[in-house]
Amino acid sequence: MRTIRTVHELREVLAPARPAGRSIGLVPTMGFLHDGHIALLRRAREQCDVVVVSLFVNPAQFGPGEDLEAYPRDEARDAALAEAEGVDVLFAPPAEEVYPPGFGTSVTVAALTEVLDGAPEQRGSEHFAGVTTVVTKLLSMAGPDVAYFGQKDAQQALVIRKLVRDLDIPVRIEVCPTVRDPDGLALSSRNAYLSPAERDRALGLSRALRAAEAEVAAGRLDAAGVLSAARAQLDAHGIDPEYLELRSAADLSPADRVNGSTLLAVAARVGRARLIDNTILGGTT
Ligand code: PAJ
Repeated sequence: MRTIRTVHELREVLAPARPAGRSIGLVPTMGFLHDGHIALLRRAREQCDVVVVSLFVNPAQFGPGEDLEAYPRDEARDAALAEAEGVDVLFAPPAEEVYPPGFGTSVTVAALTEVLDGAPEQRGSEHFAGVTTVVTKLLSMAGPDVAYFGQKDAQQALVIRKLVRDLDIPVRIEVCPTVRDPDGLALSSRNAYLSPAERDRALGLSRALRAAEAEVAAGRLDAAGVLSAARAQLDAHGIDPEYLELRSAADLSPADRVNGSTLLAVAARVGRARLIDNTILGGTT
């Protein structure tokens, strides 16, 4: 595995792949890899000839009061994990390589970014502008055939699908299922912030989603019933969510009942960590 820090070198290393008919898979991450990231690497390894993982804690997607400085980082450990998965290229650019002095362009997706995490009282649509700008850059730097994202960040995956469709970026977006600890907690680099007691409370998120799924399985499809089943689990874990919402899984429009593929999304602060989780109700996950 090669560790690369400049766009120039990345292009040089990947240039022979395309004429040789070798497919390139890109897995964008902010590092501190866990089994959710590893699942993306494995999918890429199965499907592509050359696998690139990017490690870049993207300042543009963190708001002023957010955890940019504290965000966990361990490049040596990430490199060992990536190498063990057969990754070919680890791309870990410094911030100045991605945002050199004078950088002045932002890519924004107008649809889908003003609700849930993009709502002004949540992370705001600027968060998604930071994500779509860096993802556009990473796609342009690596020119992958396929790029891999996780369903854990369901809204992000929808926004990125929209981005590549609207800008005709020639890449296939593959979205992989959420990987969880055996007790249900969705894996996240931010779980590193949780004390053991907070980790117990954090289980409220996945339990809330499972309670909602049970309501739907029992034939109760109205939003009020589904949301109150979920909220009861959050309450039982002492969690006051930042949002708990039912929306169309296709376009994030509000849903007043589970109808086809419906997204139930939750965000909550547990200690220092802001955690998100989601499930698709009434459709395929
Ligand atoms: P990061 O949080 O590091 O996540 C990188 C990728 O891993 C994302 O596509 C995310 O959805 C996926 N992922 C995270 N936890 C997962 C889990 N438990 N199961 C399955 N997939 C999971 O998301 C980002 O970084 C950034 O916004 C990025 C896309 C890299 C742009 O900076």
